[in-house]
Amino acid sequence: GPADLGTLETIACELAREAGRLVVDERPAGLGVSATKSSRTDIVTIMDTRSEQLLRERLAERRPDDGVLGEEGDSTAGTSGITWVVDPIDGTVNYLYDIPQYAVSVAACVGDTTRPGAWRAVAGAVYHPVLDEMFHAREGAGAFLRTTTGVHALSVSSVSRLDEALLGTGFGYDAQKRARQGAVVARVLPEVRDIRRAGSAALDLCAVAAARLDVYYESGLNPWDLAAGELIVREAGGEVVGRGGGPASADLVVAGPAVLVAPIRALVD
Ligand code: IPD
Repeated sequence: GPADLGTLETIACELAREAGRLVVDERPAGLGVSATKSSRTDIVTIMDTRSEQLLRERLAERRPDDGVLGEEGDSTAGTSGITWVVDPIDGTVNYLYDIPQYAVSVAACVGDTTRPGAWRAVAGAVYHPVLDEMFHAREGAGAFLRTTTGVHALSVSSVSRLDEALLGTGFGYDAQKRARQGAVVARVLPEVRDIRRAGSAALDLCAVAAARLDVYYESGLNPWDLAAGELIVREAGGEVVGRGGGPASADLVVAGPAVLVAPIRALVD
């Protein structure tokens, strides 16, 4: 049916919660220490695939006319104009090591998800299953964090100086890109209060929305790492930009209050 944003936001939350419960409840005990490195990685891939299959099944039941773009499967085109962009486990290395910082990200998007800058999320949720924290937003209605103690409206940090800013970032998996990313970090580190590399881009963006980080940048993100979190930052009053100040993309994402995004972009862009 027609895209009622409240309905899409509710579906995003319900699906992110169900998939999040699956990955945390069925995470094999001892995953981080047992077996060989490659078999451990296989288990993570299996859980990633199971979580994405669950999301795809639920979307097929509830939103049969929508498209789906995910990390683990082929993208399916829809006819409704809505494409769900999903990350079944964001923070897979944390998941492997049992570091409780991973999430399921679900976003309902409009536009052409195959072209950078040609699409955007209009409703989305990022669910942290270990802490039972649900970050969610829909366009024009603000961003919220639902915890076991209630619902909190989110707004980005009011820090305005780089030397007082706690900055989040992350690194891709490609060694050549990492060499460049290391050089960029070396430039940024002396300018900021400190740096965190928490291991989940979706949660990093939600941390910016909740002012748990003042500002964030990363290059090499995929649409599913970014889709819901970008909307949540915007709805919390933040700015999200990419290379040259254009749309956020795989090249670059900088997120935070505008007053911090500008100087970070000057350092990393
Ligand atoms: C990764 C995480 C990480 C970021 C990487 C992503 P994944 O996603 O979000 O924080 O630095 O760029 O690929 O692989 O755990 O879904």
